[in-house]
Amino acid sequence: MEKILVLDFGGQYNQLIARRVRDKKVFAEILPYTTDLQTIKNNNYKGIIFTGGPNSVFDMSSPHYSEEILNIGVPILGICYGCQLTAFMAGGEVKTAPTSEYGKIDFTHSDSPLFKDIPEKSIVWMSHTDYISSLPEGYEITGTTADCPVASFENKEKKIYAVQFHPEVTHCEYGSKILENFLYEVCGCSGDWQMDNFIEQKIAELREQIGSKNVILGLSGGVDSSVAAALISKAVGKQLTCVFVDHGLMRKNEGDEVESTFTSMFDMNFIRVNCADRFMAALKGVSDPERKRKIIGTEFFGVFWNEIRKQAHKGFFAQGTIYPDCIESGKGDADVIKTHHNRVNVPEDVEFLGVLEPLCDLFKDEVRAVGEKLGIPKALVWRQPFPGPGLGVRIIGEITPEKIKVVQDADWVLRDEMAKNGYEKQLSQFFCVLPDVSTVGVMGDHRTYDHLIAIRAVTTDDFMTADWAKIPYDILSAVSNRITNECAHINRVVYDITTKPPATVEWE
Ligand code: XMP
Repeated sequence: MEKILVLDFGGQYNQLIARRVRDKKVFAEILPYTTDLQTIKNNNYKGIIFTGGPNSVFDMSSPHYSEEILNIGVPILGICYGCQLTAFMAGGEVKTAPTSEYGKIDFTHSDSPLFKDIPEKSIVWMSHTDYISSLPEGYEITGTTADCPVASFENKEKKIYAVQFHPEVTHCEYGSKILENFLYEVCGCSGDWQMDNFIEQKIAELREQIGSKNVILGLSGGVDSSVAAALISKAVGKQLTCVFVDHGLMRKNEGDEVESTFTSMFDMNFIRVNCADRFMAALKGVSDPERKRKIIGTEFFGVFWNEIRKQAHKGFFAQGTIYPDCIESGKGDADVIKTHHNRVNVPEDVEFLGVLEPLCDLFKDEVRAVGEKLGIPKALVWRQPFPGPGLGVRIIGEITPEKIKVVQDADWVLRDEMAKNGYEKQLSQFFCVLPDVSTVGVMGDHRTYDHLIAIRAVTTDDFMTADWAKIPYDILSAVSNRITNECAHINRVVYDITTKPPATVEWE
């Protein structure tokens, strides 16, 4: 399989570079700049891309690489910091620029395979405070901007190319074409990579790595762990044991659906630990949101690791970690930004042969594509995000079995109605919340004093900010009617019209 190495120097757009390469049907693998040269040589890459990064190359504590990499005969494309680093490694000079460039900048290029079929003048996306003040011998300038005398350069003989700007971002007018030129014109890729190749290759790799040993995986019912489970099951069948901790705070029927999908469609050992009672006991009388979250997290891992200890397992531990989780956990960058909750820490007294993360190079939509190809039902593959503490953060105040049932029933109606009218595709996330509020109502001739249900529905790209969804009134009206008619103990429905910030998506 043709592979491009994205050598990660810690820039903010690095995930995008790999993404853009895969969009051109060439597989891109991301490795940190700390990867040794022999490993890189052994992997037979068709080309290497040096990414951007936040540092200055003349600061010797910044990420660097041995200049030998320029002589191994593999084509190189340096981007931003990677561009400056290439010049620096080859003996050129990099300085603080008299004028920094940020955003859209006019760029003029000369003839180069990298700029084939691209107009001489175009808009690029710049973000730099240093610049290359002199190029090493054997290297030629191929592009300039008003404030950047070396906006791109090359050494055709060595197949080394570099651009000070970011071809991976959409604001770079011909960025996609520049990457395509590097892959096809310079590296000679044929562009035959498909998701099927990834699946085949991963299965082969997993078989080789696992051998005759066993694997244990914590299945949450979410997209990532489900796809990882399906992939490992295809590779080693019953050598895989999935442990599914059902804390009783899932959506209506969700625990049963996860169990029936994985026991009927995939070859594996499936252990469902039903421990709703244990969670209820631990949460009794607790209404503070942070304490609830802490208790749910502690109980969850208590149950999970106890089950693993019972298995007396001496194999591998598998996780559904995906690429953005790895980035947040510090892969590819010397500075750990934050330890992501999706990466589980193994307790000291539990021993494994190693950790398997078969999805760690994929983005969410790629994980979904793999899931669909492996035959996981669409409803599970396209499942909307669901928080680890489950309905625990959607029941305000103390959690009781009765309240869980009320919010599950209402949420089921909301999802059913949205699926029927097709509006769900326009929403990033939508669910019901049970605020700890009773209101007066009238049903038939009787006064009622019962629960209020709130509907939360948002649109967002990244969940860092979100807008409340402008769901048409007739849809909201149908949902409200159905919830009050079909669900016991609900006499009022309200719609949350708050953006994030100031509110968060979840209510707790
Ligand atoms: P907030 O409420 O922080 O939610 O605006 C943003 C996104 O994160 C999800 N979320 C969680 N996911 N564990 C998770 O795995 C959690 O504790 C958690 N809290 C919130 C939330 O559903 C939304 O998609």
